[in-house]
Amino acid sequence: MGERLLYEGKAKRVLATGDPDVLLHRYKDEATAFDGRKRGSWRGKGRTNATMSAAMFRYLEEHGVPTHFIEQVDDTTLKTKRLEMLPVEVVVRNVAAGSLAKRLGYEEGTPLRQPVVELYLKNDELGDPLVNRYHLRELGVDDGTLAACEEMGLKVNDTLRPFFEERGITLVDFKIEIGRDTEGNLLLADEISPDTCRFWDRETGERLDKDRFRRDMGGVEEAYAEVLRRVTGEG
Ligand code: TMP
Repeated sequence: MGERLLYEGKAKRVLATGDPDVLLHRYKDEATAFDGRKRGSWRGKGRTNATMSAAMFRYLEEHGVPTHFIEQVDDTTLKTKRLEMLPVEVVVRNVAAGSLAKRLGYEEGTPLRQPVVELYLKNDELGDPLVNRYHLRELGVDDGTLAACEEMGLKVNDTLRPFFEERGITLVDFKIEIGRDTEGNLLLADEISPDTCRFWDRETGERLDKDRFRRDMGGVEEAYAEVLRRVTGEG
């Protein structure tokens, strides 16, 4: 059906199909961190991220969040709608960690009073800087779109927090990306996986996400497999 590479990212490839409105997202075992300065790969990563994203997109659709997901076509590949992506990454946080802990001088693990929403500019060359709505207006993103992005971030958080809680996982924070379909609807896109979320075991606080790679903690392959097992009931 004429697959053609449209874009090669750090952790996935995006392929065109015979249908101009449909793409394939093929997840790789490779990982980078710190704007590509750190590189690695581990077995099963592509399969975990694809399978988990598919499960999360299905669950969110069932709970009223529209997504780009169509179906999982094999272990590492999702079929999705083609969207015009917004140049924004939306981060939502429930517990202080990573860059927020640094920014506010909080100890990692401090619960936040209420979910914190942040907007980052999706621009690798600039290192994805934190931006505010004035910056985004300047870049041509209108206020209505931004409000819808923040609302979607909070709705994803409200939906996924209890989902993970039931599986013994604290959803510390996550990043989403959003795009517009040909009819102008805003849909959740990209991925939801241990690459893009912080997952801490509720009992032990053990990190079950990409921080194990970013921080050289070891056990990253096992952590990804454990999250997949808890989400889908398989290894
Ligand atoms: P941060 O604390 O490093 O700002 O990360 C916040 C959340 O966003 C965390 O769940 C990891 C995710 N994230 C990405 O998905 N991609 C990125 O490039 C970065 C820096 C963070």
